[in-house]
Amino acid sequence: MNYNEVLCRRVAAVPPSGIRKFFDIVSEMKDAVSLGVGEPDFTTPWRYSDAAIYSLKKGATHYTSNWGLLELRRLIARYEAERFQVEYDPAKEILVTVGASEGIDLALRALVEPGDEVLVPDPTYVSYAPGIAFAGGVCVTIPTTPENGFIITEESLRAAVTPRTKALILPYPNNPTGGIMDRGQLEAIARVLRGTNIMVIADEIYSELTYGGERHVSIASLPGMRERTICLNGFSKSFAMTGWRLGYACGPREVLAVMCRIHQYTMLCAPTPAQHAAVEALKWALESDFEDVRRMFREYDRRRRFMVESLNRIGLPCHEPRGAFYVFPSVKATGMTSQEFCERLLREKKVAVVPGDAFGELGEGHVRMSYATSMENLVLAMQRTGEFMQSL
Ligand SMILES: Cc1ncc(COP(=O)(O)O)c(C=O)c1O
Repeated sequence: MNYNEVLCRRVAAVPPSGIRKFFDIVSEMKDAVSLGVGEPDFTTPWRYSDAAIYSLKKGATHYTSNWGLLELRRLIARYEAERFQVEYDPAKEILVTVGASEGIDLALRALVEPGDEVLVPDPTYVSYAPGIAFAGGVCVTIPTTPENGFIITEESLRAAVTPRTKALILPYPNNPTGGIMDRGQLEAIARVLRGTNIMVIADEIYSELTYGGERHVSIASLPGMRERTICLNGFSKSFAMTGWRLGYACGPREVLAVMCRIHQYTMLCAPTPAQHAAVEALKWALESDFEDVRRMFREYDRRRRFMVESLNRIGLPCHEPRGAFYVFPSVKATGMTSQEFCERLLREKKVAVVPGDAFGELGEGHVRMSYATSMENLVLAMQRTGEFMQSL
């Protein structure tokens, strides 16, 4: 069998994620501290798990509607309206997905024709470029820098737009940089896009994690933007539910209808027990003024401040991340590439972090450290990284 002839070249050419490689090594290593994986260390609050167990006891073991439980979609509509001031019709404009990950895939496949260009900031989350390639599109990067807070500006967007531009992926708060975009900065983006046929795919999975008193602003809430925005969100990060695989997409009904068609034929529906857990998560959040979300948020904020202070002290300059749960310090002063730094830190001090180039060319010279792990781990990791820096 000649598998080179068998496999789809466009798909087979996509490299494996630069994040996973390190974690396969870590899983075999004793006493390693991992700041690698971007998922909450908190266990899902028990009342959500309990709601899922109760639903199973009652026999809710079947498919739901392709769109997801109507009760859940109604709660999502309420959440989006109260939190981000965007109104969606639960019947036609909200689709419950298998994580935000499925939302990214559906949005891209619903929009992209072969050769269409999709704009993505660099550095950014690892899934967009492969998703664009799977959909037959061309990934075009927009450079962002620590100096401008890793945001997309009106100028950088204008410079990237061509007649083939189909969509802009707007992933703020950003993984890995911690950059966020405020209303004024989003308005600058909106100025470029209004009156065009370019869609925005706003990945808002970290929307509950913005620090320093800032609240996340959804670009869909700006005048003229709702009709050209697909908002993706989910329960993985804010509600500590990564393993449940539950997210959702909101947007104009014409677009959601096509996304739902792909979902209908490929997924049927998101996992039913997870949908019941999410109903409880949202109900409780809306009732309790986001008690669980705020509790986890306060802890992330405490860790964030500890990390920024420690990294700057040990000689790894670190801008202050304003969102998500990652720090993205520069390792340029060590004279090593990101890969070299990560390999040596892991081998010599058993601390696992992710090389910045996994997130794009401009991530080179940085490493990503996740602070979604216990303070104890962070203290140990900073102590070992400090010793590593001194040994250079
Ligand atoms: C920016 C971003 N979007 C989407 C995802 C995937 O989220 P989900 O677990 O909802 O599929 C991640 C996970 O790390 C992420 O960082």
